[in-house]
Amino acid sequence: MSSSPFTLKWGIMATGWIAEMFVQDLLTNPAARNVNDVAHKVVAVGTSSSNDKAAKFLEKVKAPEGVKTYGSYKELVADPDVDIIYVATPHSHHFQNAMLALTAGKNVLCEKALTVNAAQARKLVQTAKEKNVFFMEAVWTRYFPISSKVRELVKSQAVGPIYRVIADLSFNKDKPDGTVDFDDSHRMVNINLAGGALLDLGIYSLTWLFQTLYHCQPEEEKEAPKVVAAINKYHTGADEMTSMILQFPKHKSMGVGLTALRVGTDVDGENSGGPACRIQGSGGEIQVMGPLYRPLQYKVIKKDNPGKVEVYDMPIPHDDERDWGHGMFWEADECARCIRDGKKESATLPWSESIVIMEVMEEVLRQGGVTYPELITTDVFDPESSLNTGKR
Ligand SMILES: NC(=O)c1ccc[n+]([C@@H]2O[C@H](COP(=O)([O-])OP(=O)(O)OC[C@H]3O[C@@H](n4cnc5c(N)ncnc54)[C@H](OP(=O)(O)O)[C@@H]3O)[C@@H](O)[C@H]2O)c1
Repeated sequence: MSSSPFTLKWGIMATGWIAEMFVQDLLTNPAARNVNDVAHKVVAVGTSSSNDKAAKFLEKVKAPEGVKTYGSYKELVADPDVDIIYVATPHSHHFQNAMLALTAGKNVLCEKALTVNAAQARKLVQTAKEKNVFFMEAVWTRYFPISSKVRELVKSQAVGPIYRVIADLSFNKDKPDGTVDFDDSHRMVNINLAGGALLDLGIYSLTWLFQTLYHCQPEEEKEAPKVVAAINKYHTGADEMTSMILQFPKHKSMGVGLTALRVGTDVDGENSGGPACRIQGSGGEIQVMGPLYRPLQYKVIKKDNPGKVEVYDMPIPHDDERDWGHGMFWEADECARCIRDGKKESATLPWSESIVIMEVMEEVLRQGGVTYPELITTDVFDPESSLNTGKR
């Protein structure tokens, strides 16, 4: 006998590019990915400026009738029909916007990078605890079947103990005039919007280092890494190329994380440059093909079976009815299951791990001399901050 699925009711904060991808995935039929125990409903969308903008967004994503629209984030978080707020603003805004939602008693899924620094991340976690609500950083990649599979292979020592992981997510946006292909005002390079390669792309290189080298460590042996980093800065002050070494001396392991805006992980985006992540153990290696935020293929090469490369594809299930499916629905399903089961955090990306990752990124930026303005680095919540009211 099949019981009806638990349906999570979403409020969407901001209507930019990723909000569009995410809402499309929420509207995807869960059966297309063989999910029957949870479902999603978009009940409201709020923008920083107008109802009209929210209405246009709903049209664009072909949302069903009846979704409410709000011209402010404050109204959105006050909607009693909303179970969970998806925060899809630039990272500069995440702390203030997520605090707005948490203090209103809402569950929150907050886009990556979670915050601009570790103090903000700690404050969000503390607030989620106080309010007894669910809170998660939206690192969708962690919930891909390929990520689960790779973590399983690492834990079972399929290629022996892992000693080194190399991970890269870089985009070739170099232009002949010496700039990169983003306007100085664009969130990718704008210091006021916490721009730079690390917080936007490098988080994925770190995701692979962390989910293989840190997450898989037994709880009683957890070791946060020592960090050595180098940064080349763009003329806006944001980081345009960042390289980091994460050392786990007790585990005799190291991670090398790379990210850049002037050269790509590979030339054509088709993995011509080889794997984007190499997970190296004493008995062989697991290779993950890029892009690292949306991994669809991995390979296993074993020392005792030289010359044989095992190749595994794990494509995104496609909803034929709506003709889409980006792969963000798996993290949404995780939110629904956690909330259904009364869990406040996801075991796949626990609060403590999000905080350690933010500590690492803060340290990398410190070593590279990147600084952001006080408005976006403060860990003092202000509901009237321009980041919450949309005054630009
Ligand atoms: N998971 C992923 O794969 C993925 C991919 C891309 C981006 N992201 C993350 O998602 C977040 C948003 O990225 P995006 O590419 O969607 O950005 P975007 O297209 O620029 O959208 C950001 C939205 O935030 C709102 N906003 C509020 N104040 C703003 C301000 N001062 N300047 C700009 N926008 C402001 C706007 O929506 P309203 O006016 O409607 O409120 C805007 O449309 C970032 O943290 C990014 O790292 C994640």
